Amino acid sequence: MDAELFERARDVRSRAHAPYSRFYVGAALRTEDGRIFAGANVENASFPEGWCAETSALGQMISSSLDPAGRRVASVVVVADRVEGGIVCTPCGGCRQRLKEFSTARTVIECFDPTGKGQSFSIAELLPAGFGIDEPRA
Ligand code: THU
Repeated sequence: MDAELFERARDVRSRAHAPYSRFYVGAALRTEDGRIFAGANVENASFPEGWCAETSALGQMISSSLDPAGRRVASVVVVADRVEGGIVCTPCGGCRQRLKEFSTARTVIECFDPTGKGQSFSIAELLPAGFGIDEPRA
């Protein structure tokens, strides 16, 4: 596990806006050029308008650099409580698609509970046969 990403995800999680679900999520990602961006979930009274933590972090990354390596995700850490059945919280379907947009076959997606126990995935594992296009990052 990337300890720095885990700490950043845990820290940003403490600032989530989740008064409706009370399910607090933090995500921190490292770009291929080594920079870190973090985001928490941002809910809304109009429920479908909420943002997931992963979406918030990707928005930070894309807003920050036009350098291609600064717009590719090397690794992501998601921190949240475990969900039903004790399963670690993994990105929702929409976030899997958004992560794919900025991922490569090397991208590592790690999903941890707040104690640091969890699981690691590739984007192909999270989104098998996913839709994508070549050179999507221009
Ligand atoms: N959520 C995330 O932010 N990331 C995930 O990986 C799963 C779900 C958020 C969305 C919503 O604010 C809350 O968790 C409950 O679904």
